[in-house]
Amino acid sequence: MLTVNAYSAAWLRRGFAWVYPAEVTGGRAQRGERVRVQAEDGTVLGQGIADDGWIAVRVLADAEGGFEAGVARRVQAALSRRVAVDATARRLVNAENDDLPGIRVDDYAGHAVLSLDSPSLDAVVPIVARAVDARSLVVAYRRDPRDAGPTPAARIAGGADPGEVEVTELGLRFAVRPALGKDAGLFTDMRELRRWLAPWWTGRRVLNLFAHTGAFSVAAVAHGAARVDSVDLSAPHLSRARRNFDLNGLKTEDHGFWGEDCFKALDRLRRTGQAYDVVVVDPPGYARSDAGGWQGEKDWPRLAAACLRVLSAGGWLVACSNLGTQSPRQFAGALSQGAERAGRRLRVLHEACPPADHPAALHFPEAHYLKAWVMVGD
Ligand SMILES: C[S@@+](CC[C@H](N)C(=O)[O-])C[C@H]1O[C@@H](n2cnc3c(N)ncnc32)[C@H](O)[C@@H]1O
Repeated sequence: MLTVNAYSAAWLRRGFAWVYPAEVTGGRAQRGERVRVQAEDGTVLGQGIADDGWIAVRVLADAEGGFEAGVARRVQAALSRRVAVDATARRLVNAENDDLPGIRVDDYAGHAVLSLDSPSLDAVVPIVARAVDARSLVVAYRRDPRDAGPTPAARIAGGADPGEVEVTELGLRFAVRPALGKDAGLFTDMRELRRWLAPWWTGRRVLNLFAHTGAFSVAAVAHGAARVDSVDLSAPHLSRARRNFDLNGLKTEDHGFWGEDCFKALDRLRRTGQAYDVVVVDPPGYARSDAGGWQGEKDWPRLAAACLRVLSAGGWLVACSNLGTQSPRQFAGALSQGAERAGRRLRVLHEACPPADHPAALHFPEAHYLKAWVMVGD
């Protein structure tokens, strides 16, 4: 049993599912141990799993009943919350937003990937496997930058490695590899942004930065973009982007697939006077590279300015940030600073939200992590 302070108890009663180390006022638990969490007056608030990182306990089940049955009930509740989406790649369990902190489940045409924020959560694997009942199950780990230590490799926990699986999104085809876990190959939370952009690509010259496996590039070319240059540090990701072009019968010859650092590419494009009608920029929260790396919290002004220096007058900047710790107001501030540096002004045309398979819990402050804004530059 762990006892938490009044502040934590109030948040847990509201449905928040994390206990921070400084909030534990009594008891001890090892990483991975199942624990009951109580308020200082002895009221049991829930059951969870202890960790030794920046989170002390993730609360995964109600106070009453057994732990396993409680987790299974939450997984079932998450599944029953899903509505039909126009894709065979979709999120089934959305972590804190489905009251299952640190636990995400993605479905790729019947093959599941269970992503855990910490190896301490391994005990939930059989519970989730039973509830989801997929053709295969991969367990992958996402190390939070606030936690130290290595990230275990992804592993097959049910069925056989399905290899390449074809999924669809909004009528387009994509090859994913569930065994690669979080790098499976399609970021489904961008679906609504891709839907909104679909009518607007025709005839445009597009630069897709941090292109990954080219989901935006495929969508742009499929909807008539004149040319799309995709930039990503990872050569394997770009060859998967080419594969996605092939799957949709799109020619790769007329488009660029540039395996390089986005900042270097932007600098080269500026020096050679290139201009694009649309610049899509969807960086990870944090990244290392030869050019010095990237930290979303502080580097957006620099990145936005570099993008705007290659954006034609009246062109669109599509800027996405997935940092839960960065508020929309902070994102707007960073983009404005970048615009000022580049001597440009930006106006928001559209703010995309995550699709219905990514519900956002009002009792979880970081739920609205996604900023995916379409802006027009003067
Ligand atoms: C969040 S994903 C982008 C998702 C993509 N827009 C999509 O919808 O599929 C981040 C990508 O950025 C790439 N990356 C990270 N740092 C980079 C850098 N400095 N320059 C170029 N690519 C980078 C990674 O290889 C990864 O493919």
